[in-house]
Amino acid sequence: MSAPKTVLTLAEMRRSNAPITMVTAYDYPGARAAEAAEVDAILVGDSLAMVVLGHPNTLSVTLDEMLHHARAVARGATTPLLIGDLPFMSYQIDAGQAVASAGRFVQEAGMAAVKLEGGRAFTETVRAIVRAGIPVIGHLGLTPQSLNVLGGFRVQGRTAEAACRLLDDARALQDAGCFAIVLESVPERLASHITEALEIPTIGIGAGAGTSGQVLVYHDLLGLCDRSPSFARRYAELGDAAVAALARFRDDVRQRAFPAAGNAYSMPDDEWRAFLAATGEAYPRPVTAKR
Ligand code: KIV
Repeated sequence: MSAPKTVLTLAEMRRSNAPITMVTAYDYPGARAAEAAEVDAILVGDSLAMVVLGHPNTLSVTLDEMLHHARAVARGATTPLLIGDLPFMSYQIDAGQAVASAGRFVQEAGMAAVKLEGGRAFTETVRAIVRAGIPVIGHLGLTPQSLNVLGGFRVQGRTAEAACRLLDDARALQDAGCFAIVLESVPERLASHITEALEIPTIGIGAGAGTSGQVLVYHDLLGLCDRSPSFARRYAELGDAAVAALARFRDDVRQRAFPAAGNAYSMPDDEWRAFLAATGEAYPRPVTAKR
């Protein structure tokens, strides 16, 4: 078993210019797969709300729901850096609330770090969580918890003014103690510029090739949802494979081709005879057409 990866592993990868791989996971089998694939970090993302729980956005997932899934992930993976995503309204009220929520991810769910969305407005919050001994990864650009302020899931930082704000936010998060920053849906040249301006790693999603690492949502990567954002790459079509397998199962059951001999348990003849004798039935039992 490899040694667990830490924030220092990611810092060293940034220094040596080695690309960092992060993937989301929400349950035990997903975590096992990510561990076996040797990704560097797992994010138990609040995208859980959409891809697992079927909500239209991330706003309705609660801290308790996130912790339930994070615990399952921690049981499945020990090597990647495990990051819990602070959901909407679990850290926005004040720094005390944020420290308490981050603490639950560590204490109750085995996470090694937390992620939160937002820039300069959250530097005090980041400082407080780091002071409590919990590493924080920031999240800038398209921050889905601010969907209603942003007016939708849109690319961010496309004007010079917005790009300056993003760069300032990134510097502020680094100064506040973030160990890395996720950049979501920002122009490639801006993401590259921000990456060069920082010492900590940037992890891009829809931010082009110039970031220190990449993160994809598990269900996009594996083709488990009907549609994926254009920036994602579907490395498999497991959703189609699942439907095809379920349909074959249905056909086999209807045609009595499943279960077959190898899919059933046997019972010793003498025990069977004793059972029939006990129930007063003949052996072998008369075969009836009806099942
Ligand atoms: O919740 C999530 O999956 C995320 C990633 C898109 C970075 O925040």
